[in-house]
Amino acid sequence: MTVEAAIAARRRCWLVTGAAGFIGSHLVEALLKLGQQVVGLDNFSTGKPENLEEVRAAVGEEAWRRFEFIEGDIVDLPTCVRACQGVEIVLHEAALGSVPRSIEAPLATHAANATGFLNMLVAARDAGVKRFIYAASSSTYGDSQELPKVEERIGRPLSPYAVTKYLNELYADVFARCYGLPTVGLRYFNVFGPRQDPEGPYAAVIPRWVRAMLHGEPCTINGDGETSRDFCYVANAVQINLRAALVEDAAALNQVYNVAVGGRTTLKQLHAQLAAALRTERPDLQVLPPRFAPFRPGDVRHSQAAIAKAQRLLGYVPTHDVERGLREAVGWYVRRLGSPK
Ligand SMILES: NC(=O)c1ccc[n+]([C@@H]2O[C@H](COP(=O)([O-])OP(=O)(O)OC[C@H]3O[C@@H](n4cnc5c(N)ncnc54)[C@H](O)[C@@H]3O)[C@@H](O)[C@H]2O)c1
Repeated sequence: MTVEAAIAARRRCWLVTGAAGFIGSHLVEALLKLGQQVVGLDNFSTGKPENLEEVRAAVGEEAWRRFEFIEGDIVDLPTCVRACQGVEIVLHEAALGSVPRSIEAPLATHAANATGFLNMLVAARDAGVKRFIYAASSSTYGDSQELPKVEERIGRPLSPYAVTKYLNELYADVFARCYGLPTVGLRYFNVFGPRQDPEGPYAAVIPRWVRAMLHGEPCTINGDGETSRDFCYVANAVQINLRAALVEDAAALNQVYNVAVGGRTTLKQLHAQLAAALRTERPDLQVLPPRFAPFRPGDVRHSQAAIAKAQRLLGYVPTHDVERGLREAVGWYVRRLGSPK
């Protein structure tokens, strides 16, 4: 039986925090399509009501009636307690992303990512939640030079954001030990796809560049362009969340997993691949050569995941490599951002 069929076989109540965000909204959509009852929690700090409207349009009104949305902040414990009531599985995505944001505003990042995370653990524990799946991050590998990254060996964090994401893992581990709350941490590696926000100073590289290309502006490469990442399409991230939520092997619980494809794409390669993907939608698109700017503090130089642990213990097999993911993602951006100049 596929993981989707296993989920569809029984209606459970799920809480998705960060539901109005990029990854969270895809999780809500997948769960509603599988007949599940879903509570969403978000304070719209970076998430958008439009993301939820898109989910509504994608799943239809019948499914949408199985969704309850709470606008609220995970920094507020009573909000977390309310959101966890009657919930069997938590998919905790709410956090303030972005390394540069955390360098500029470490207190805000800490409040959402550390205090908010602890609140969610306490609320989940007290509500008798059966499983707590949470968004960890590849930034936890920090200054480790080793490639590919294996879960057991990390370096020193390079940003406040990375500190908070590592703290999440430590707290989750301790809640499993001290209170028996089963947890699974998912170290996402540069997830991308439709609904990832292209706007603002903290936008991730793919949506930022798609926007620039569609607007006839040059993309900015921070550094020499040889910086590399293991870009991961959002469908792969959804898949592993579903698998982690249902896995029965006790050895698979209270663990962290890399969530990636296992590939390595330099920023220069990404620029070329993005331009090619966009030209399938807009054959006449003129893409300017990239502009180079200094390296950004806090950025990891190379990132590539070993995904063997997730394959072995969760049965995770990525369905989308970077190129397939880019092809699917660009259509959404072209529709959303309109015609190029
Ligand atoms: N996208 C990636 O490449 C990536 C990589 C590593 C880790 N992550 C983690 O995955 C998770 C989801 O990231 P995303 O890319 O979907 O980002 P996102 O910004 O689109 O989603 C995060 C959501 O959390 C909400 N949120 C933030 N603070 C909140 C608070 N205090 N209370 C309630 N809601 C709050 C935001 O409004 C937003 O909707 C985050 O935990 C992020 O750190 C993402």
